[in-house]
Amino acid sequence: MEIIKNQSHRMNQDYHVIHPTHELPKNATHTILQNNDAFIYHKLITSYKPTPLIELRCLAQKLEVNSIYVKDESYRFGLNAFKGLGASYAVYKTLQEHPNISTMCTATDGNHGKAVAWASKQFNKKAIVYVPKNTSISRIEAIQKEGAQVEKLDLNYDDTCTYAKQRSEANGLQLIQDTAWDGYEKIPALIMAGYLTCLKELETSLHKNNVPDVDIVFLQVGVGSWAAAAVWYYVNKYGANRPKIVLVEPTESDGMMESLKQGIRVIPKGTQQTIMAGLNCGIPSLNAWEIIKDNIDACISIEDFYVENTMNILYNPNGRDSKIIAGESGASGMAAFFKILNDPKLNSLKKELNIDNNINLLFFNTEGNTDPINFNKIINS
Ligand SMILES: Cc1ncc(COP(=O)(O)O)c(C=O)c1O
Repeated sequence: MEIIKNQSHRMNQDYHVIHPTHELPKNATHTILQNNDAFIYHKLITSYKPTPLIELRCLAQKLEVNSIYVKDESYRFGLNAFKGLGASYAVYKTLQEHPNISTMCTATDGNHGKAVAWASKQFNKKAIVYVPKNTSISRIEAIQKEGAQVEKLDLNYDDTCTYAKQRSEANGLQLIQDTAWDGYEKIPALIMAGYLTCLKELETSLHKNNVPDVDIVFLQVGVGSWAAAAVWYYVNKYGANRPKIVLVEPTESDGMMESLKQGIRVIPKGTQQTIMAGLNCGIPSLNAWEIIKDNIDACISIEDFYVENTMNILYNPNGRDSKIIAGESGASGMAAFFKILNDPKLNSLKKELNIDNNINLLFFNTEGNTDPINFNKIINS
């Protein structure tokens, strides 16, 4: 069992601050992230285009900060979410090694499953996607539209992952899972390598200098693979000069926050009832945990209403700002910033992060309206 190593962690119900080491674990995930340039592969995909980086000048003025940038992943491969970056690269690399595999499978709360279905279809392979009990009909239909067979289970996310692993072993399916556990690290690491394309695209704008042009980056967390890929990128590229990194989770599904508090990977303590479906996962990914635990600045948990408000703010922009269609998990990064500004319990975190009118902020809209029924309800409420 791991012990709590960093005694300087400070406790608070809504956030957790850590003192980063800026040192990456030199393990197999690190080697895979260093040795794989998925950007080269992604540029070969016909539907590839860098996603837009949107500056919200009027919102920045209103919130009295220097700049707000949103990298809008809703434009990724026509899939409405960033997940295609990871799935496509992992499927491609797996088929390079094992070209005769006929069927991929995965567990998902929506976007990753759709991405695996899409990626499998590119290679004329079948996909079976297992979804947990709370998965909405819109999300299931979106996966089916990409040609996959979907099985809805009466299980939570973690148990759905275990089920997918068992089916893959029993039926000779290739598991393309975006979370890692002991003995299953390679494919999740390739998925993380795929996510790096999103960060590398910023090397013609915010990441082109030796010091990044943003001060704080907000990263939403499900199992943590996306956030860990970004954390790895920033620490690897900038070391101690990296921007501050704030992770964001739903209050009701806070596995990473709870793990950071306890110093060991644990399951969330919340009810797992949240509109942020993409973030509604269980225990953090092993690969992600090893990178994140010593290399972020803070983790915040947010309630659903912050996300609903943020989706509306992005959809009905101020002045000449562009409209952004942000889904529930997509809007969560910025929603955490609104929580910092509005909740007095986060005043000391605001100070800690040096949030003032000179600050430059980067958010990732990791999905568009991936659940259109719920999206319309929130926007019209
Ligand atoms: C839209 C969206 N954002 C963020 C995430 C979080 O990614 P990860 O599970 O790698 O932490 C997910 C995961 O499914 C997602 O669907």
